[in-house]
Amino acid sequence: MASSPKADETGFQLKGSAPERYEEYSAPIMAPFVEAVLDAVDLCPGHQVLDLAAGTGFVARAAAARVGPTGHVTATDFSEAMLKVAAAHAPRMYPDIEFTVAPADRLPYADDTFDAVVCQQGVQFFPDLGAALVEASRVLRAGGRFAATAWAAWDRSPYFTAHHRALTEYGGPPALEPFAMAFSCPAERLTAALTDAGFHEIVSHDVTFGITLPPLADFAPGHLSSVPWGQAIEDTGGPERLAQAAATIATTLADHTNPDGTATIPFTSTLVTAVR
Ligand SMILES: C[S@@+](CC[C@H](N)C(=O)[O-])C[C@H]1O[C@@H](n2cnc3c(N)ncnc32)[C@H](O)[C@@H]1O
Repeated sequence: MASSPKADETGFQLKGSAPERYEEYSAPIMAPFVEAVLDAVDLCPGHQVLDLAAGTGFVARAAAARVGPTGHVTATDFSEAMLKVAAAHAPRMYPDIEFTVAPADRLPYADDTFDAVVCQQGVQFFPDLGAALVEASRVLRAGGRFAATAWAAWDRSPYFTAHHRALTEYGGPPALEPFAMAFSCPAERLTAALTDAGFHEIVSHDVTFGITLPPLADFAPGHLSSVPWGQAIEDTGGPERLAQAAATIATTLADHTNPDGTATIPFTSTLVTAVR
């Protein structure tokens, strides 16, 4: 895995085995948004794609399937731990996903390298969003497409509303602060930053998917332990407090439970597209 200078210690930081749990528990939540963000950049076989803040690689893997063996996917993230999990889950049939540790505002690529840059649930964590988008523009070819998702306000998605309730009860400010960051890039902020970075044809809209999650009694604690605000609860109150918070999440969402024990819950994200 190639390396470049590390970003500041800010943003979405996961410790220990949390990146592997992030891969497992975030997969069903991210899946429909992965397809939406890739649809938005009109990928074709042979395209060169950058997955910015790739995490454990949900978008990079799906992009590799779309661009095929004649294309190329590069996945960057400032977390080596996240990219290690991504590399471990890379599909064997498209061995050309390249994983590079890099902060979004210092990309180690030449100008005009990519046909598309995609960023799923990453922009809200960048310490310097403007600098990151200038970099995204620089590495895109003229006419290349950019697309990003960022969660709409937490009270637009019942799952996150349940998280907020549990954090208020069991986590307090140390948990609420990283949680708030996940919802800190509304459409206006992102479209203004894209305009300042020189993008054009900037379009934003909200997308909502009803997502079916495994039974919440097991899913809620697993997922909560794989996000920074869950880690904050565990750091301050230990595993018991984390379990109590997860139980509150499951109880709050009881109305969404299906007869087979799964739960179907609407999630809303902003999707912004732009052209360089
Ligand atoms: C919520 S995760 C999203 C990961 C992935 N895109 C997905 O769809 O699951 C946010 C990711 O942003 C990364 N990140 C945060 N700040 C960053 C920065 N300044 N430069 C690069 N990556 C960053 C984190 O390491 C983390 O992997």
